[in-house]
Amino acid sequence: MTSEIIVEAAAVSKRFGTRLAVDHLSLEIPAGVCFGLLGPNGAGKTTTLRMIYGVTRPSSGTIRVFGIDIARDPRAVRSRLGVTLQQNVLIEALSPEENLRVFGRYHLLREPELSRRVNQLLDFLELRSHERLPVRQLSGGFQRRLAIALSLMNQPELLILDEPTTGLDPAVRLALWSRVRDLTATGTTVLLTTHYMDEAQRLCDRVAIISGGKVIDEGAPAALIATHLAPETVELDCTPEEEPILLGGLALPLRRRLRVGRRVMIYLQDASSLVEQIRHRDQGDRREMVIRPANLEDVFLALTGTSLEGGQ
Ligand SMILES: Nc1ncnc2c1ncn2[C@@H]1O[C@H](COP(=O)(O)OP(=O)(O)O)[C@@H](O)[C@H]1O
Ligand SMILES: [Mg+2]
Repeated sequence: MTSEIIVEAAAVSKRFGTRLAVDHLSLEIPAGVCFGLLGPNGAGKTTTLRMIYGVTRPSSGTIRVFGIDIARDPRAVRSRLGVTLQQNVLIEALSPEENLRVFGRYHLLREPELSRRVNQLLDFLELRSHERLPVRQLSGGFQRRLAIALSLMNQPELLILDEPTTGLDPAVRLALWSRVRDLTATGTTVLLTTHYMDEAQRLCDRVAIISGGKVIDEGAPAALIATHLAPETVELDCTPEEEPILLGGLALPLRRRLRVGRRVMIYLQDASSLVEQIRHRDQGDRREMVIRPANLEDVFLALTGTSLEGGQ
């Protein structure tokens, strides 16, 4: 069961006119994991998802979901998956409960199963306190939770979430992450997109880093960090002229050094002795230094030379 592949994309490309939005993308998503497509705006994440759930046709390449070729039999696939789009699709004049009922009937659920499922989802996504208010009066966080509840109505084996937490406040994001974990713990496979490094790192079992329509690497977050960088980072403010004085010829196994403007990041196994050596060379100057764990933002920077948030 655990070795079952739920989504298999093989050399998938999508061209819009002269623009190659997705470029020979290959992926394998095993059953029961939370899999993240991590990349900045315009990387091709939404287009990739749309091809996986069968509303956009690849220009070339093949996609199998549950072992079924999506181009050949999209209906057989769609009944087994749930999708939450980047933009919520809700009936604004109706309450969360009514939205859920409408969607349940669309999935051909009848009483008493319909009410049972609606109540389960109102509880699961903590929508009870506002279950009877019209959707247009609800906060962004409530609307997002309702959109996710709708995509769970048919008890999908694969749940697809396009930027589930973009624009939400931290407490709502944490609550949603916990719901996603509940789903994968009970065997649902989750495929999500995000441009948030922390979301990819804390929520996803595996991540494909996407830039310019290409998968530039793929793996478990910790493994990606170990492969490209090292567990610890020392971050300091230092001009290119100061760099050889502070960091030249250090007797330490540095894995990598990256610069963004005046900021230099040094990746290594153990940061403490490096900090001591820099302090020693930097006599009198109480330079700000930050020691932190290396993260997927660093990996993205190491692989592409730009930051996820758009070159800042
Ligand atoms: N329907 C479309 N027509 C033309 N270009 C598109 C269309 N959809 C997406 N694109 C382009 O494809 C690229 C990838 O877009 P998208 O998949 O939405 O990226 P992401 O979701 O990672 O932000 C972008 O340059 C976007 O402008
Ligand atoms: Mg998108």
